[in-house]
Amino acid sequence: MMKIAVLVSGNGSNFQALIDANLSGQIVGLICNKASAYALQRAKQHNIPTCVIEHQNFPTRELFDAAMHQQLLDWDVDLVVLAGFMRILSAHFVNQWQGRMLNLHPSLLPAYKGVHTHQRVLHTGDRLHGCTVHFVTAELDAGLAIAQGVLEVNCKDTPTTLQNRVHELEHLVYPEVVEWLCTKKLQYVDANTLNFRNKPLTKPIRFCQ
Ligand code: GAR
Repeated sequence: MMKIAVLVSGNGSNFQALIDANLSGQIVGLICNKASAYALQRAKQHNIPTCVIEHQNFPTRELFDAAMHQQLLDWDVDLVVLAGFMRILSAHFVNQWQGRMLNLHPSLLPAYKGVHTHQRVLHTGDRLHGCTVHFVTAELDAGLAIAQGVLEVNCKDTPTTLQNRVHELEHLVYPEVVEWLCTKKLQYVDANTLNFRNKPLTKPIRFCQ
């Protein structure tokens, strides 16, 4: 059974969606960089071990990442799932988990890397928006996209309504992708190649709202 660690910084609604999905893998621990994060309560309610590693206690990004890496090794983790983890990771850390670390981003990548994605979509006037699940590479929000949740932007949407609507899609798409990995339906081959049901995945699988 695949051992999964989830990394979060805040509320953890996607962490909750992963718990609720009853995955074929086991969530063996939650790492959080903020002691006040609500995600920690969610973990306790489900008897999932937690580890708080506060970034401000480390003089460098590399030392913070090394502490997380050690915890992941201690839990004997197979898959690292970033779910609203708001820290940039060092290339060294990312490379150690290449092909074994997923991220969820609130935009249709490659559009809108970085922060404030909902505001930026509204500002540009895009008709489509959503979320992307991708493997993590050293370059921010640039790894191979596996799946996307897509929605149509309404004329009445605000950054808050878009955030809520994207969250709904995220809660659907992220557990699905993690389950594909747990059941080996999805396989990482190399930085440019993914197989889905034993065939190369040429474009992200799309879920529509
Ligand atoms: C999610 O919308 C996720 O896409 C975003 O943080 C939110 C976490 O919500 N992630 C990023 O912006 C990563 N760059 P949650 O804590 O309720 O799961």
